[in-house]
Amino acid sequence: MDLRQLTQSVCEVAREAGAYINKERANFSLDKVERKHAHDYVSYVDKGSERLIVGKLREILPEAGFITEEGSASHTDEQYVWVVDPLDGTTNFIHGFAPYAVSIALCKGREIVVGVVYEIVSDECFYAWQGGGAFMNEKPLQVGTSVIGDALLCLQLPYNSDAYKPVITRLIQHFYGNVGSIRMIGSAAIALCYVAAGRLDAYAERYIGQWDYMAGALIVKEAGGRVTNYAGDDYFMEGDSIIATNGVVHQDLLEAVKQAQ
Ligand code: IPD
Ligand code: CA
Ligand code: CA
Repeated sequence: MDLRQLTQSVCEVAREAGAYINKERANFSLDKVERKHAHDYVSYVDKGSERLIVGKLREILPEAGFITEEGSASHTDEQYVWVVDPLDGTTNFIHGFAPYAVSIALCKGREIVVGVVYEIVSDECFYAWQGGGAFMNEKPLQVGTSVIGDALLCLQLPYNSDAYKPVITRLIQHFYGNVGSIRMIGSAAIALCYVAAGRLDAYAERYIGQWDYMAGALIVKEAGGRVTNYAGDDYFMEGDSIIATNGVVHQDLLEAVKQAQ
């Protein structure tokens, strides 16, 4: 399998889905929003994007199964599995607030072999394939070098606020005033890509799904960064927590999340 070529085909699919999302955004209004749970929103745009992506990916690799956020396709024991978030940053999207993105990963067993994240508003396609490096619109990506005192961190607010509120409160208390600054950007996939691009030095979040982080995690690793779960394990694929950093500040993040539990 030519992973480089496959990645290019996946970028085209992500861009097509992005064009659909962009077109729908033009006439979007808040009355088109449904709720999955309190503050966890979805719309026909997430579902339409997923149908489009699944259809195209089936043509590219008919033997692969699927893990998709909106559940329109499934997997059994296939060797290859696509992991798809058809619109990451739905809350941003419904408010017309950037960034929001399409995220597609291809896994072979326990390995992530392709990752593509397309940010729709700024037309930035981030991608990587295993062993091939990471890129954004053909430009190679490299993580940053800041130490913790100057680092720009992204700490997010997952939907599971009951469980995470005490943890995020302690994390902010720990870091605020001791790092360059802290951001919350509303898209897990894009937070990862910004770490890969050196725009952020670290990103940490819990209570997220595989579709949120699989593609971005490969992009960070291929850009020279480090990715683990909150326990520090390099095998994070089935978990619900992620720390992605420039490598320099990884230990600082690991210690902080440990203390914050
Ligand atoms: C969410 C976004 C958000 C993160 C949540 C995710 P969705 O995904 O990535 O930034 O904080 O944990 O669930 O629902 O917009 O696809
Ligand atoms: Ca998501
Ligand atoms: Ca989503």
